[in-house]
Amino acid sequence: MLLRRRKPSPQQCSAPAESADHQLVDGAWESYDAELAAARFSGMTRRLPRLVAQVARVAWKASRRDTATTLTLDLLSGVLTAFGLLATAQVLHALFEEGPTPARLRAALPALLLVGAIAGLRMAFGLIASWTSTRLRPQVERVVERRLFEATTRVDLAAFDTPGFYDALQRARDRGLSEAPRVVQTAVSVLIGVVGVAAAVSVLAVLQPLLLPLLLFAGLPEAWAAVHNARMRYRTSYELAVCRRRKWILADLMVDRRSAAELRSFTMRGFLLAAYDRLATQERAIQLRLARRQMITTTTGDLVGSLAMGVVFVALGLMLDARLLPLSVAGTAVLAIRAGQSSLYGLMYSLNQCYESGLYFSDYLAFCEEAEKTPDRRGDRPGPQDFTTMTASQVGFTYPGGLTPALRGVSMEIHRGETVALVGENGSGKSTLAKILAGLYEPDEGEVRWDDVPIREVPSEDLRERIAVIMQDFTRWPMTAQDNITMGREADGERLAKAAAAAGAEQVIKDLPNSYDTHLDRRFRGGAELSGGQWQRIAIARGFYRDAALLICDEPTASLDARSEHALFETIRTNAEGRTVLLITHRLASVRAADRIYVLDHGQVVEQGTHQQLMRQHGLYAELYTLQASAYSDAPTECEASGEAQRRVSADGQPSPGRRG
Ligand SMILES: Nc1ncnc2c1ncn2[C@@H]1O[C@H](COP(=O)(O)OP(=O)(O)OP(=O)(O)O)[C@@H](O)[C@H]1O
Ligand SMILES: [Mg+2]
Repeated sequence: MLLRRRKPSPQQCSAPAESADHQLVDGAWESYDAELAAARFSGMTRRLPRLVAQVARVAWKASRRDTATTLTLDLLSGVLTAFGLLATAQVLHALFEEGPTPARLRAALPALLLVGAIAGLRMAFGLIASWTSTRLRPQVERVVERRLFEATTRVDLAAFDTPGFYDALQRARDRGLSEAPRVVQTAVSVLIGVVGVAAAVSVLAVLQPLLLPLLLFAGLPEAWAAVHNARMRYRTSYELAVCRRRKWILADLMVDRRSAAELRSFTMRGFLLAAYDRLATQERAIQLRLARRQMITTTTGDLVGSLAMGVVFVALGLMLDARLLPLSVAGTAVLAIRAGQSSLYGLMYSLNQCYESGLYFSDYLAFCEEAEKTPDRRGDRPGPQDFTTMTASQVGFTYPGGLTPALRGVSMEIHRGETVALVGENGSGKSTLAKILAGLYEPDEGEVRWDDVPIREVPSEDLRERIAVIMQDFTRWPMTAQDNITMGREADGERLAKAAAAAGAEQVIKDLPNSYDTHLDRRFRGGAELSGGQWQRIAIARGFYRDAALLICDEPTASLDARSEHALFETIRTNAEGRTVLLITHRLASVRAADRIYVLDHGQVVEQGTHQQLMRQHGLYAELYTLQASAYSDAPTECEASGEAQRRVSADGQPSPGRRG
């Protein structure tokens, strides 16, 4: 389960109080550093088997053949190590026998050949196992990445508005994903370590059980150094967590294209570099302290290990003297203890690595399991291709974690072929209602129906196929102009040209170096940069290209110039070739011709009717409309003063007839 985050300890890396980057802290990133810093060996061994089992499942899914080969060959190598040591004992035994040297050599020859054959086999197995485990890496990466992206593209949109979900996603993606192949590799190293220690233990047990404590005695100092170093590393990483997070955010700000212009215009360079220097200096000091301490620990481990080996030699000497073992066995025991010592060190080292990577990987697993549990709450009723009337009745909706409802008791109707407008002040719930009608959010109360079919009974994909939404915060996909319009659908030249023309994007595309094949992102060679309004036309073309029964346009003209805006509203008004349009806009002059206008205020429909009806009501709509119209009616006077008489805008906010595009 995901752990509760601890507060940073006082000794953690902190920027001076006067620095503004103290706001850049995000605790989510450091979720496991606290636990790692406090890791106890017992806790580690309790949790590890589950982690390893989870990893084994992933590796198995990635490639059964490579997983099975790696495990089998590593196990066989361990068994061969044991047999190799026993064969070595036989060689030494034959060599230390009484008699002439040639005879002793002859007697030792079969065992010697066996030692050679075993060493050759072990080397071959080791090479193949390392090849298969290298092959496993990209396959594991693919499996885990694919699973994450399947989950993130499938979950309900509302999940992204839930802070817990987003944090978990960031953790799963930032570290969980990258640790997956590492945890597989380290789990294999753990296995190699276990097999190596088991081989040494079994050889010593066969030779003389009294030798077993000597292995432990000789191996422990270096194993202690490995564990101690790992814990110091964890603690350092905990201390550095906040520091690194800030550094990353600063680094992003200094290299990102989106912040590049403002960074220069507000001359932020010196400020950001100074903040970076402060953090880098602190990080370096902490890193150097760690390096010094690790060196002391490693040296201590090596020194004590050598002393322990000296003690082992003395003990072997005493055992020889007491005739508890023959000289040949003592020689093999030294080799077995040496091999066991290095396996024990490797085991401890990889146990720590595996545990560390495993914790982050468990974030990934927890996220995927949670996201996969999110049910598609919709039914499987086939929705009608089109509708005669789309009805929202008493719709209520509160965003996850929201204190007040974004929509309350909203009822409305859209008939086929109509243009219906939603107007209202900022935050009144227009976009939210549009997303509910588009089936992107599920209402908490009430329902939306296509004729007699509640849309919650229609599978989401089916429903979304029939609705085209031009989003208020549309995405500037870093893809070609064509892909930005077809959005994954098959490209049809004629439809593409019609959609571009309807959106006023024809000229934009003509001006691109490679027409529809131009990448709309300067990071690509030959990529082009579009202006805000040009992008908006592409996004509108996207909506027109989709042959959907309902077209929802949420503020489609926010970045358009007056002439394009007028042309677009004309298209929407006349267009739509029988299409039904839901139009959301603050340009009230443009909704005069709508078949019906719904006015939203604080999540409720407060007025509805045609423009004329609403004007007669003298309510919110009439107030907003008059306010806008009066602002425009002043405009010509000001323009005249500046010599720009009669420019583009008439009293109702429309471009003047002479300039219409
Ligand atoms: N993803 C979200 N999570 C939580 N609350 C949200 C979210 N999106 C919008 N809200 C809240 O819901 C309310 C309605 O927002 P909505 O975007 O529907 O307004 P709007 O009428 O489209 O406004 P605008 O004219 O500014 O586009 C607002 O109070 C807003 O703060
Ligand atoms: Mg909006």
